[in-house]
Amino acid sequence: MTNVVVVGSQWGDEGKGKIVDWLSERADIVVRFQGGHNAGHTLVIDGVSYKLSLLPSGIVRPGKIAVIGNGVVLDPHALLAEIEKLGAQGVKVTPENLRVADNATLILSLHRELDGMREDAASNSGTKIGTTRRGIGPAYEDKVGRRAIRVMDLADMETLPGKVDRILTHHNALRRGLGEKEVSHEAIMQELTSIADRVLPFRETVWELLDKQRRKGARILFEGAQGSLLDIDHGTYPFVTSSNTVAGQASAGSGMGPGALGYILGITKAYTTRVGEGPFPTELKDEIGQFLGEKGHEFGTVTGRKRRCGWFDAALVRQSVATNGITGIALTKLDVLDGLDELKICVGYMLDGQQIDHLPASQGAQARVEPVYVSLEGWKESTVGARSWADLPAQAIKYVRQVEELIGAPVALLSTSPERDDTILVTDPFED
Ligand code: IMP
Repeated sequence: MTNVVVVGSQWGDEGKGKIVDWLSERADIVVRFQGGHNAGHTLVIDGVSYKLSLLPSGIVRPGKIAVIGNGVVLDPHALLAEIEKLGAQGVKVTPENLRVADNATLILSLHRELDGMREDAASNSGTKIGTTRRGIGPAYEDKVGRRAIRVMDLADMETLPGKVDRILTHHNALRRGLGEKEVSHEAIMQELTSIADRVLPFRETVWELLDKQRRKGARILFEGAQGSLLDIDHGTYPFVTSSNTVAGQASAGSGMGPGALGYILGITKAYTTRVGEGPFPTELKDEIGQFLGEKGHEFGTVTGRKRRCGWFDAALVRQSVATNGITGIALTKLDVLDGLDELKICVGYMLDGQQIDHLPASQGAQARVEPVYVSLEGWKESTVGARSWADLPAQAIKYVRQVEELIGAPVALLSTSPERDDTILVTDPFED
């Protein structure tokens, strides 16, 4: 028995929701360790659909502890709204089943506003990132700049006013520069005091909770958000999110030492998608891209934006296997490829006349690379709902084997429809 870390191995939206739900049923504790309410998971349990952005998936299952770790940036308004929405669906969120790290950074309204102002300003100059406008980046900037307001600060009315002054000195200078109205000290104090009583009951010393639970033999599931290619260091910078999304962050973002992380499961879509701006070497702007988008319902859960679609990029996923230390992958949405005559997999790139086997780090080079493909015959049969290898057409098995070989990691789970039971289980990550 081991703990499990789930990460996205591409640009997010790999279909983590279904797999995390399947795993959270087997877990005792489910921990978010980075990102915030820029993520979006839809869970379907007994025909009821639950949309989660900030809360860990385990929250909808009785008897589990859901944890928001210190690596998360927490919008208290979004948290309270999500708790209320779940309550209306009959899921009770209490300090019994939700714990929030007392050292997690808060997203304030001024962060959300700054995110939007910057994106609007950048739209005019053609340099926007295409963020979710949730204030994620600005909140992480304040954390690293050592001027953030954290959950525990809500309980300390003596030091809070000084911290508010400090964060405002920075933000009001930025707002003046952007030609925007300044924010008053009173407005931020009012914002914080209005939510303090409802957030503080959830506060927890998360590193200690996890240490105790680990020693007791609890199964801990770490639920990553976004994807490895959106990682602030390892992704397609600057078109990335502002956190480390790779598996190592499960440790730093929760306070549990890396030795106890266990199985690293990389959720991997059988083709590639991306939302927002940035390089995407295998993007298909033709009717095949359209086919994948329509058949795969590729629209963002958080912003509703249409996702860009393209062929599977094995060079990129191989890089994610290395940067995360992926033990095995969960391959999702194989059924979306049903019916295509030919399938292509990217195995490397041409850059300035030379073949390379990984995406270079420089933004200019990333924009110039041309994918190098291997081509495979498609299959006509439906793979929807396959629950064993015997249910899959020979060409589909060949595709899966080729993916495994090219990325250097085995398939642990193969998902063939949004239904939880439509899954081929090769290895149970908790038992590995
Ligand atoms: P931010 O995280 O809102 O700052 O957005 C930065 C980039 O990450 C943008 O390209 C977003 O579209 C992308 N992004 C953020 N969260 C997700 C997600 O959950 N899935 C896919 N892309 C995301």
